[in-house]
Formats: sequence, structure tokens, C-alpha cells
Amino acid sequence: MRVLGIETSCDETGIAIYDSERGIVADVLYSQIALHERYGGVVPELASRDHIRKTLPLIETVLEKADLKASDLNGIAYTAGPGLVGALLVGALLGRSIAYGLNIPAIGVHHMEGHLLAALLESPKPTVPFLALLVSGGHTLLIEVAALGVYRVLGQSIDDAVGEAFDKTAKLLGLAYPGGPALAQLAQKGDAKRFQFPRPMTDRAHLDFSFSGLKTHAMVTYKHLLAKGEDTEQSRADIAAAFQEAAIDTLVIKCKRALAQTGLKQLVVAGGVSANRLLRERLGEQTDIDVFFPRLEYCTDNGAMIAYAGCLRLQNGEGVGLTVGVKPRWPLDELAAI
Ligand code: KG4
Ligand code: ZN
Repeated sequence: MRVLGIETSCDETGIAIYDSERGIVADVLYSQIALHERYGGVVPELASRDHIRKTLPLIETVLEKADLKASDLNGIAYTAGPGLVGALLVGALLGRSIAYGLNIPAIGVHHMEGHLLAALLESPKPTVPFLALLVSGGHTLLIEVAALGVYRVLGQSIDDAVGEAFDKTAKLLGLAYPGGPALAQLAQKGDAKRFQFPRPMTDRAHLDFSFSGLKTHAMVTYKHLLAKGEDTEQSRADIAAAFQEAAIDTLVIKCKRALAQTGLKQLVVAGGVSANRLLRERLGEQTDIDVFFPRLEYCTDNGAMIAYAGCLRLQNGEGVGLTVGVKPRWPLDELAAI
């Protein structure tokens, strides 16, 4: 089965084709960074308009790259949520309409399930049951995956998602949007021990997260330096390093706790923040569990994960109706088993 995947939930237009026999056969990504940079964050209306401009030409490109015709497709998967409503509607309406024209099924995919399943595109891959840490700009989730599609949320952020905290702290330190990767880069030059940052909510047994306090801690530390006239590149790097160390350490502590509580021995880490080098290093050091990450380009938003997740669900007999719906908010545990 060949499935076209369309990802338009935020600021990236990602298009890919997954073939159930051959894997991902073509994959293209257009990032809107240049469009939003001057505003310091994603402007939803601009994002929607750019998806309208880019989606169809990128579908043509991906078909060309795969040396396929539209009539070679057997299904279309589009991100139906969570995400920006206008941006989601572009992918959903185009995906559903093209599928109608080709007389093939279309399916709306959950963006975070896409991230999670991206780890299964790798080899070796995890087998159910496993624990998943999903870390992106909008979510921080610890999930017990009993079977594909059967997700139990063990913990989540009660305020800022970890990626959001990276982005906001980066902005505070004068780094350009999107801040996460830039902050991680700056942190490499910093001394993580100069400032002591807290590990939020690690003194409690539950598995929820809170990252807004870390961001505030960075702000207070930075203002203190400004007041003393010590706003240097080195000081900013030291704050970035202390923030990153605290955020990553907190994620690692909670993962270990969730693994101990559930007895699971495999951990999948996915979503934009799973591209973070320190997180990959720290979790990779764990000897008593197997840790699985998607390759770097499938950590952040992409069409491949949507094509793959959609293919699994279409093979499962889902995606027959003509209704088009998007869900800007969509709890992961509402999904059906695959
Ligand atoms: O999954 P994703 O591409 O989009 C959402 O679904 O939100 O995740 C984007 C988030 C952003 O907050 C970005 O700053 C963060 O992932 N991110 C990183 C790194 N690469 C991306 N955060 C820390 N270190 C990185 N290397
Ligand atoms: Zn994402």
C-alpha cells in the first residue's frame, strides 16, 4: 500500500510517500522559519496562507522524486490535530479532496501519534509494550504504549511544554526563532555549573511536568546579570547551559521513574526536542533499558511520520468516510487501537 502523508499542523509543510513494502520512498519538507522569524514566533494566519501556497507543489515534487503518478497512491493521510486550526484545515481539505478525486481513502492522523510511530521507521525498532516520552513545542507527554493506538497518559506538562520553555528562554537570551536548537548550540559554550537551576516537580512521586518555572528562573538570573552589567556572550551561554541541563535532567528523572513504576524496559523518545543532543546522550547512557529515537530529520515535524501512521490505520480498515474534521485539541488516549 502506498500512502501520501501531508503535515501542516504548524510552521512546516511536510509531504512524504510511505510504501508498506519499501518504506519511505520520498520525503520533502518546507520550513516557514524565514516567514515567521521577524515576529519571534509563529503567526497562525501567515502559516495557513503559506501552507496553501506550498502543499500542492510539494505533492507534485514528492511524486516526481518517487517516480510515481497520483494514480499509484492507495491512500492519503493528513494531520488532523492537534495544531493550529487554519494550518490543519489546509492539509485536511486538500488531502480529503485529492483522495476523493482519486477514489481512494483518506485518514486524519494524530500529530503526536505520528511523532511516536516515527521511531518504528528505524531499525532496530521497539516492540510493544513500551514507554514513550513525547517532547515537542506543544506537548510533554509520558505515555504507556500497551499496543499501537492504545495510549495511557502517565504524565504531562501542567504549563509550558518543554520545547516551548526552550523557545521562550532562547528568546529571552536574544536568540532567533525557533529558539530550541539555537539555545542548545549556545549551551555548548557555557558552563552548566555556574548557575544552579531547579529540577521542577521531581520531589513528587507523580509523573507530571512543569517547565514555566525554569523559564522564569532563567529570566531572573539574566536580569540579575543585566543589573550588574555582566550581560556577556559567556554569561548567556552559562544560563543556556544551566537551563538545558535542568530541563534535560528533569526529563531523564521522570523517564526513569516511569520505567520503574511500569516495569517497562524500552523507551521511545520522539518529537522536536528529541533532536536535542544532551537528551540523546543522557538517555543513551542508560544501560538497563533500550532507548529508541527517530533519525534527526524525523524528530521534528515531517510528512514521513504522517504517511506511516496513516498507512497503519488505513491497513487497519479506518478512513472510509467523506467527513473532513480537524481537532486543534485532541487527547492522545482517545485514539482507537490499530
Ligand atoms: O515536533 P516539533 O517539530 O513541532 C511541534 O510539534 O511542536 O517540535 C518543535 C520544538 C520546538 O520547541 C523546538 O525549539 C524544539 O522542538 N527543538 C529543540 C531542538 N530541536 C527542536 N529543543 C531543544 N534542542 C533541540 N536540539
Ligand atoms: Zn510536532
